[in-house]
Amino acid sequence: MAQSTLYSRVIGTGSYLPPDRVTNQELAERLAAKGVETSDEWIVARTGIHARHFAAPDVTTSDLALAASQRAIAAADVDPQSIDLIIVATSTPDFVFPSTACLLQNKLGIRNHGAAFDVQAVCSGFAYAVSVADSLIRSGQNRTALVVGAETFSRILDFNDRTTCVLFGDGAGAIVLQASSEPGVLSSALHADGSYAHILCTPGNVNGGVIAGNAFLHMDGQAVFKLAVNVLEKVAIEALDKAQLTADQVDWLIPHQANIRIMQGTCRKLGLPAERMVVTVGEHGNTSAASIPLAFDVAVRDGRIKRGQNVLIEGVGGGFTWGASVIRF
Ligand code: UT7
Repeated sequence: MAQSTLYSRVIGTGSYLPPDRVTNQELAERLAAKGVETSDEWIVARTGIHARHFAAPDVTTSDLALAASQRAIAAADVDPQSIDLIIVATSTPDFVFPSTACLLQNKLGIRNHGAAFDVQAVCSGFAYAVSVADSLIRSGQNRTALVVGAETFSRILDFNDRTTCVLFGDGAGAIVLQASSEPGVLSSALHADGSYAHILCTPGNVNGGVIAGNAFLHMDGQAVFKLAVNVLEKVAIEALDKAQLTADQVDWLIPHQANIRIMQGTCRKLGLPAERMVVTVGEHGNTSAASIPLAFDVAVRDGRIKRGQNVLIEGVGGGFTWGASVIRF
């Protein structure tokens, strides 16, 4: 008897933003007090960002992940104990180890001894995590996965560096993926080029009990911009080809939310009308691995993304890394 194809399907989404919303104007005032000059006009014109959220000092990435996960699990209406795989995409983990995913498993009260680990691919992290979870589910190794992007990027920002500190924010987004005979994740494509590690990095580590090197985020914005525009178009087409779909069959494009100019460029190059792109960068800033699942959840909850529609997610970031998935919602 022919075996039916196994897919992983999104059965619930959730997200969480910490309550401290900081507008460009408020941030500019805080920075001015330190002698750092910026303005709402510059930030909006160059990035499309109007505000970002910052976590309180005692709140960690796993706390944000917990709130987003609880919402995704409630939306999926699954017993948390049935979740046998947790992947957290983050570059701002609570600790060097254990992983944020293990901390999250414990905070959720999941005691089933399923797998839990972090994925480190910076702003492409969620695309990487979806692809890994999908592969594990389709292979039959796991059945129900909680896939999270969560970040407290404010912790690695140098607030004396106006070229980076105005861009990023904190937050978390999550999806529950479950094995299904109905199409879900249709295709994925992942890439990396480590020769560009230096253009976007936080090149510090812990050595002998102290931080060695620079523990602040460093970015060559223009170099990242140029690479991002190029790879986002290519990887979108690659994922669509694998799914045997054309761009006009994409109902929603959810790119990594870093810069509205990069996002609009990608949308244009794919020949998609701007209305088919989900945009949250204005309110969230760049939340790295959290940006795609945050945007996904916003568009599911406001009714834009409907069952049966094709959603193209794509990320790009430090490493240099990039990746995309086509998801039948
Ligand atoms: O999440 C991973 C992926 N990351 C990205 O995709 C980010 C990609 N890069 C970018 O989004 C853009 O390159 C930035 C938003 C980071 C910068 O925009 P830009 O149009 O490339 O600006 P620029 O770096 O060329 O800087 C233009 C000017 C400079 O002044 P001069 O040299 O022309 O006098 C900067 O010093 O803007 C100045 N500038 C600022 N001015 C006011 C840089 N940051 C600021 C600021 N406020 N915050």
